[in-house]
Amino acid sequence: MTTGTPPLPKAELHLHIEGTLEPETVFALARRHDVALPWTDVEALRSAYDFADLQSFLDVYYANMAVLRTRDDFAELASAYLRTCPDQGVEHVEMFFDPQAHTSRGVDIGDVVGGLTDAIEEHSGTVSAGLILCFLRDRPASEAEETLRAAEPYLDRVVGVGLDSAEVGHPPSGFTGVFDRARSLGLKPVAHAGEEGPPAYVREALDDLGVLRVDHGIRAIEDDELVARLARDRTPLTVCPLSNVRLACVPGIGLHPLPEMLAAGLNVSLHSDDPAYFGGYADTTYAASRDGLGLSAEDLRTMAVNSFESSFLDADVIAKHVAAVRAWEA
Ligand code: ADE
Ligand code: ZN
Repeated sequence: MTTGTPPLPKAELHLHIEGTLEPETVFALARRHDVALPWTDVEALRSAYDFADLQSFLDVYYANMAVLRTRDDFAELASAYLRTCPDQGVEHVEMFFDPQAHTSRGVDIGDVVGGLTDAIEEHSGTVSAGLILCFLRDRPASEAEETLRAAEPYLDRVVGVGLDSAEVGHPPSGFTGVFDRARSLGLKPVAHAGEEGPPAYVREALDDLGVLRVDHGIRAIEDDELVARLARDRTPLTVCPLSNVRLACVPGIGLHPLPEMLAAGLNVSLHSDDPAYFGGYADTTYAASRDGLGLSAEDLRTMAVNSFESSFLDADVIAKHVAAVRAWEA
């Protein structure tokens, strides 16, 4: 925050760990593993971060992942991210990871989960963290099922499953079977819906996948009946304004529907999605949303409380975090 006071305590619930891969790290790992990249240097890579839509971002995001090869790479990636958390006021993280983007390149899923877990354990004294295994919705559902089976030996380290990647044309209803199986294994279901896709996808995520949180969900605002349902059920929506602007889901920060969502009584919290690509980790996202949308300190506090209450932490732990948010002075 720009005020010089300690940052507002918050939980980060919408963060793709691969989206924290900074350009300098991409090149360092490429040198380590002798991976050829389509960009000559960090500058050229950064200049590719001018996205027209979700797909144009995903093309770069997946290309950069080619440098992540070993358990240590995943540990270093997550460790670098978790190191940023105290300065951003992030006390708890539920981080997404995309196993199919790695196993499809020959990386062992045990190395992916193992490396991420190594980092989580290393930083457990300063930030708590869990993993959410995401299925790529633009790949066949059978591949998602295979991925869940391959992950079974490591599920004690995983709190939930998610659904991400290219949304339009890939509705949640295609993944009913794998989400049923995941829920039966005790995993908490969440899904990206209503980022670029229509409000109907948010309904499907609720009805067909039984999600406990909707990631993004901004297009729900187009459907009054859906808004009333989400408000009544206090369904958490993990909103990422900087991402939505950078991926042209909204035309500018001042036109983001967040104030309307808050006014409608939706259970909204603020998150950073892919901070290495979208220009802001958690506290920067809060500050940019405050400045760009004219939000008050109380709005930010409300969303920070929502972030903990929407987490998969135990109720007594949530209560302690919420008390710290309420005691925070702007
Ligand atoms: N994977 C990483 N970031 C994503 C986003 N914003 N939407 C869908 N899939 C993603
Ligand atoms: Zn996301």
